Amino acid sequence: MSSSSEKKNLDYFIVIDFGSQYTQLIARRVREAGSYCIVQPYTKTSPNNEPENLNATLTLKGIILSGGPNSAFTENSPTIPEWVIQYNLQHHTPILGICYGMQALATYFGGTVQATEKHEFGYAQVRAHGHTKLLQDIQDEINQQGHNLLDVWMSHGDQVTELPPSFKKMASSNNCPFAGMANEEKFIYALQFHPEVTHSKQGQAIIERFVNTICQAKGEWKMPQISNQTIRTIRQTIGQEKVILGLSGGVDSSVAAMLLHQAIGEQLHCVFIDNGLLRLNEAEQVKKTFKQELGINLHCVDASKKFMFALKDIADPEQKRKIIGQCFIEVFEEFAKKNLDACWLAQGTIYSDVIESAGEQSGKVIKSHHNVGGLPEKMNLKIIEPLRKLFKDEVRQLGTHLGIASALINRHPFPGPGLGVRILGEINNEKAEILRQADAIFIEELRRADWYNKVSQAFCVFLPIKSVGVVGDYRRYQWVIALRAVQTIDFMTAHWAHLPYQLLDTISNRIVNEITQISRVVYDISGKPPATIEWE
Ligand code: XMP
Repeated sequence: MSSSSEKKNLDYFIVIDFGSQYTQLIARRVREAGSYCIVQPYTKTSPNNEPENLNATLTLKGIILSGGPNSAFTENSPTIPEWVIQYNLQHHTPILGICYGMQALATYFGGTVQATEKHEFGYAQVRAHGHTKLLQDIQDEINQQGHNLLDVWMSHGDQVTELPPSFKKMASSNNCPFAGMANEEKFIYALQFHPEVTHSKQGQAIIERFVNTICQAKGEWKMPQISNQTIRTIRQTIGQEKVILGLSGGVDSSVAAMLLHQAIGEQLHCVFIDNGLLRLNEAEQVKKTFKQELGINLHCVDASKKFMFALKDIADPEQKRKIIGQCFIEVFEEFAKKNLDACWLAQGTIYSDVIESAGEQSGKVIKSHHNVGGLPEKMNLKIIEPLRKLFKDEVRQLGTHLGIASALINRHPFPGPGLGVRILGEINNEKAEILRQADAIFIEELRRADWYNKVSQAFCVFLPIKSVGVVGDYRRYQWVIALRAVQTIDFMTAHWAHLPYQLLDTISNRIVNEITQISRVVYDISGKPPATIEWE
């Protein structure tokens, strides 16, 4: 008879992080393939086999070595932890090396890695060789000679130029003679390209082949387990203490709120702060959904004057983000002290916020997301971030699993600093009001034309420039609004949405006709990279 204290056995995978920006993406793909997966730094000297209150015994089924920015042939470059090699030897645990991971394997086993003149960044076509278990029967097309061809994503300057003894060639491209290698007796496989990136069309199939066929994982890691595990962790971490959560009304903080509500019920108090930088009718909508429909403790605080005062005359984007973050924390702390004896501040931070604020290994800051890089150094509240390891689409799946309505789950994300990062340069109430009106028209028209759910995010940006227009017989010298609409899966990369001209025309006409302080509307046609989704 099974009891709740009886521990289940759960398969898991470890990704060894050599500092690639895609490391968490690998873990996510493994989870998508149905197995639990954690990331640990290459500097750790043993496998983490007791992660996060899983109430399960764990069996390590496979190890994946990530990419990374170093050159495997230089002195002091990161090397494969010895425990990985020992595990593979003693338990026949399969290893998959990706990019730098392949180069580290080649170096370890006696091959050669060199910098080449022909760097490969972006799409490449790779030919499979040797009928390995990893790539067999996985292809995008077959050429006239019967070779399997794969469209993949490459991102490397160095490459393997000589295979280690007893490894065979598994793939090649025009610029890379060894785009993959394998030693099947040792269960070691390596790819120079990135199967974890969606641009590698068969990437998921390759990861699934590794996880489910080569490592023979049972595939038991599904959303219910993720949800249960997170709820259990929250309960153990929080105990009987109270938590306040900054609810923005966006997907992330809403899912975090539901998760915490299911874990600790009445101990959770959500605080919705009106910072003067919200979208039209945002506050009313949040109250309706969370208080009335979901029955969550919700407190609304109007702090718009405080935010606007702190932001006066500030034009630098990073400074604005930091100030907004600081104001949020001050308002929360003040609220918590006056109204509740809460010790915890919960946030809906997700993984892309974390990597873009400071790559876990690389330390490169792209922009400080207000709830990550913008936190003041001294804080009285402890932080809990239950979604910190999840990507946006995983957060949405979790939200659906928790029973959140699809209209809320599929709402476009709205950044924590709100319109603050959409009013370029100095912020004031007048600009915020103009932007709110324009944004509401844009979104209304997208919905009307059935385009809202076809784009991942859409919004208006207030440009701090004036341009001349003519309305009727009158000259108009007024502000410029940019429309931004993007399509993306994980918000790490994005394409600008090809909205129909007719729709753009309707939106532009309405904005210029209905808002007298706007003379011109432009459409942003930049992808990410090189642009980011928000303008600041
Ligand atoms: P970027 O502009 O970095 O945006 O390409 C990627 C996604 O993140 C959102 N974003 C934020 N979300 N706090 C948030 O909660 C922030 O400071 C922040 N900055 C950007 C952005 O709207 C997009 O969905």
